[in-house]
Amino acid sequence: MDYFIWDKNYNTNIEKIDEQHEILLSMMNSLHNGLKLSDTHLNKIVANVINDLFDYISYHFKTEEDLMEKSNYPYYEEHKNEHSVFFKKMLEIQKEFSKGKLNIEKELLDFLKDWLIKHILATDKKLGNFLLEKGNNNENE
Ligand SMILES: [Fe+2]
Ligand SMILES: [Fe+2]
Repeated sequence: MDYFIWDKNYNTNIEKIDEQHEILLSMMNSLHNGLKLSDTHLNKIVANVINDLFDYISYHFKTEEDLMEKSNYPYYEEHKNEHSVFFKKMLEIQKEFSKGKLNIEKELLDFLKDWLIKHILATDKKLGNFLLEKGNNNENE
């Protein structure tokens, strides 16, 4: 069974955002499954997946921040600030991991999962509702 299961409550109904959230979820599930393997190269594999995940998260944050900027979203600063605080925390975790601290993978995943669920349900959905009201769904630039 997957570690992180999509729930329809997580939908913001903004296609671009929901697609990226689902990709994030599946990357986290791959990382979780990777942790179950016993392999001498496991640390290297996990480090690569963590790097890919972090890259994708910054790309995703940028997508949301661009949508907020373009729509003159009134809670832009608050939302962006949540992203920045989260990103700083992730960098700390990544640093711990590179120092070889044990169980960091599980810590990272649990932290990511909790944060994402809370952030999607409150902050991203609030943005989604605003964009839907403005009629900005599925906009292609
Ligand atoms: Fe967000
Ligand atoms: Fe998001």
